[in-house]
Amino acid sequence: MEKNIGVDLGYGFVKVSDGKKDKIFPSVVGQARTLRYSTEENTDQNFIKNMDVIVDDREYFVGELANRQSDIVLFSLDENRMDEQISKILLITSLSLLSDSKSTNFNTVTGLPVGFYTETKQTITQRFKGRHSIVLRKNQKNESEQTLTVNEVKVLPQPFGSLFDLILDQNGTLIDENLAASKVGIIDIGFRTTDFIVVDNLENIDRLSSSSNTALSTAYFNIAEMLREEFKITKPIYQLDEIVRNGMIRISGKSYNLDEIKKHAFSLVAEKLITEINSLWTNKWELDMVFISGGGGMAISEFLLPAFENAVLVKEAQFANVYGFRKLAQRLYGTHSKMTTNLDLAVGSNE
Ligand SMILES: Nc1ncnc2c1ncn2[C@@H]1O[C@H](COP(=O)(O)OP(=O)(O)OP(=O)(O)O)[C@@H](O)[C@H]1O
Ligand SMILES: [Mg+2]
Repeated sequence: MEKNIGVDLGYGFVKVSDGKKDKIFPSVVGQARTLRYSTEENTDQNFIKNMDVIVDDREYFVGELANRQSDIVLFSLDENRMDEQISKILLITSLSLLSDSKSTNFNTVTGLPVGFYTETKQTITQRFKGRHSIVLRKNQKNESEQTLTVNEVKVLPQPFGSLFDLILDQNGTLIDENLAASKVGIIDIGFRTTDFIVVDNLENIDRLSSSSNTALSTAYFNIAEMLREEFKITKPIYQLDEIVRNGMIRISGKSYNLDEIKKHAFSLVAEKLITEINSLWTNKWELDMVFISGGGGMAISEFLLPAFENAVLVKEAQFANVYGFRKLAQRLYGTHSKMTTNLDLAVGSNE
């Protein structure tokens, strides 16, 4: 079985899609421990909340289970560098979620932040390619091994995914030639990084493209600081997501509304980003459209949109990059025939 898929190993969340199934889990990896008892059977449906895996003979908790149960967290939303082993564990775990059998082949398109695209492209390609094994531990008695083989890898600057999602259909056919020929800005606000790029007729204008460390986590650090001052509680960033999303924290059984604090922290991030973008895009008027993307884009768009005359938040912004990667994978590695267009020249041959 062979699948053309999009993979987005974000600092905050891993997102993968094969066009039928979309999967998302927090980019958290922790040491496994023996759980004295578990209340529910770990079925396929709730496996994503209880990922206990063995990679290279070592056992790990991944995603929400690591958040809930690991004493020692090896990588979390607090950190700003993901090492080789961690990104391999996140990659293989995400592939296993799209695998329907013991052995699956994948052709992948993925993305890297604009800031280290050129240096890291080769390394990522090598890391992805080849055969990987993983053991999924559903419970003490039920383990299953999977072989996941990555045949093709294409790496793009991350925000390109959101653009491909807009101009390609599910089969990878170009459906919006107008947009493909336009000059557009894309702002992808993630957890750890914000990428902004300008694309003219599908060509990346390098001098107008950049990465920033101002992203949603900037707001989370502010909120954590405030919780420390106001309530004397210390929460690591990786345990803050649910609280911030709900806009509410429970302390000793009492609920406190965080909406105002959230608004304040999010608007500060938006202001900082607007300053950075304005100094890079001095001729904003040249852009036909500005697209805002990423999970962070959903969170702060209301504060960002007023700064641009022609900006929109893309649909399903947290998944937009990975959907675009998937559509491009279908175009590059799918079986249907197609003409060579500007688009194919822009993304280059299969590497
Ligand atoms: N609908 C939404 N409303 C508000 N916030 C959201 C929404 N959807 C996602 N988010 C937030 O967006 C953040 C993650 O965004 P995203 O998945 O784009 O980051 P990432 O790709 O992992 O990070 P990076 O691009 O820096 O590697 C999370 O903190 C999440 O809570
Ligand atoms: Mg991202």
